[in-house]
Amino acid sequence: MIALAPDKLFGETSIRRNLVLGVAIVHLILMTIFVFDLVERQKAFLLDELDRRTLHHAHVLAVSSSPWVLSDDLVGMEEVVEGSARGSGVRHAMIVDPSGRILAHTDRARIGFYLADPISLSATSGDRTARVYQRSEAAIHAISPISAADRLIGWSILAVDKSATNAYLAYATRTGILYTIAAMAIGTVFAFLLSRSILRQLRLLLRGVDNLQRDVLDQPVKVVSRDEVGRVAEAFNRALASLAESRQRLTSEIAERRRAEDALRTLSRRQVGIIEDERKRIARDLHDELGQALSGMQFCLTTMRNTLHGGDSPLDGPCAKMASEVERMGVSIHRIANDLRPATLDHLGLVPAIQAFIADQKPLIGDRLAITVDAAGFNRRLPTDVEMVAYRIVQEGLSNVIKHAAASRVDVLLTVNHPQLIVTIRDDGVGISPSAGGGPAAERGIGLLGMKERAAAIGGRVEVKDRRGGGTSLRAELPYVLEDVDAEAAGSHR
Ligand SMILES: Nc1ncnc2c1ncn2[C@@H]1O[C@H](COP(=O)(O)OP(=O)(O)OP(=O)(O)O)[C@@H](O)[C@H]1O
Ligand SMILES: [Mg+2]
Repeated sequence: MIALAPDKLFGETSIRRNLVLGVAIVHLILMTIFVFDLVERQKAFLLDELDRRTLHHAHVLAVSSSPWVLSDDLVGMEEVVEGSARGSGVRHAMIVDPSGRILAHTDRARIGFYLADPISLSATSGDRTARVYQRSEAAIHAISPISAADRLIGWSILAVDKSATNAYLAYATRTGILYTIAAMAIGTVFAFLLSRSILRQLRLLLRGVDNLQRDVLDQPVKVVSRDEVGRVAEAFNRALASLAESRQRLTSEIAERRRAEDALRTLSRRQVGIIEDERKRIARDLHDELGQALSGMQFCLTTMRNTLHGGDSPLDGPCAKMASEVERMGVSIHRIANDLRPATLDHLGLVPAIQAFIADQKPLIGDRLAITVDAAGFNRRLPTDVEMVAYRIVQEGLSNVIKHAAASRVDVLLTVNHPQLIVTIRDDGVGISPSAGGGPAAERGIGLLGMKERAAAIGGRVEVKDRRGGGTSLRAELPYVLEDVDAEAAGSHR
């Protein structure tokens, strides 16, 4: 059985890693979206603000310079331009006439020149409205018309520096990235701590499962959390307790049943013993008492015949008939007594007793059935009850072959293979199963049943089945204990 290795099987590290990684990624995505959105909004707002400021400056310059342009006062224009250049972030400011000639400029060197760049030129040739006409990386450029009595007399052009706004946006982006990293770090630490508390209960639960696999039912899982995993641990403990309880019940039931079986076996064994003793007693009584009485009767009849002067008396015939009847009765009584308790079994042992039984069957079977008996390992006597059970099994097995098998050959094999005596009887007859023509064996006679009960009484078993090539095979395994034999032998010597 593979033992649970919590770290590997459940992936403790993997749960923690997944949780930490998941939280970090979620923070990264959310914070990136948030920072990006925030910076973009700020950028849009600030650029809009810058546009408005630039436009406002250009407009103020246009309004304040209009009298000087109208009077063509270059000094006045210059003062106004310089005044507007003092406004926050103004890069340069100028006043141009409608033809694009620079009348005043924050860079005096450019006064008197014409606008040369195409964007400014196109701005001065467009509508007479104030507008932002160029947005570069570095500055916002705005233009405002200078009018007098609805006549265009010039343009004010002004550029406001963007570097401060750019610097602020870069700063906001950096701060946003820092916040993102901080959020990821906090989330990771939080996920790590969370996974520790979840995993602790899971680890305890896995140890419980491991114990269960090793059949340890008396060590409940320690419940350290009140969450779902903790509730699973509680449920596990309840299941464990009821498992332990049913195991306990089952164990005591099994012990009870074993005791009952043992008692039954002892009873059965005793019953077999009693039956055998009773048979022995009846056989002895038959032999001793009836046999003696018949011998006495025979003696009397012989004396009567002698007294009646041999064959001259009319009573001689009936006396002779009576004497032969009495003799026949003696033979029958001997046979019945032998059937009840074969004397050869007690005196000569199992194999000679079986051979004697087979010899007795000879007149019944003639030549139609060949019976062989083989024995192996019989270098000492087996316990009496084992020999008796084996004898009865062979007796019943052979009777069945004679009665039911229609066999031409049957082999009996007795093998002593400590601690068992194995008896096999194999015939080449019709077979025992209904399909082999034997019919439902259990529904008829009690021979097989008796065999099994006798074997079970001494802790053995009998199996009867069809042979593969046809016929029936009976196998009995009868255990024996050698000490019994020694003890019995010692008892019989006393
Ligand atoms: N060697 C065998 N070959 C074929 N059939 C057999 C053999 N041994 C037993 N059977 C079948 O099994 C049945 C049961 O046998 P079992 O010895 O229990 O009863 P029985 O011989 O019919 O009657 P009883 O033994 O009580 O006089 C038999 O009736 C017979 O059909
Ligand atoms: Mg039978």
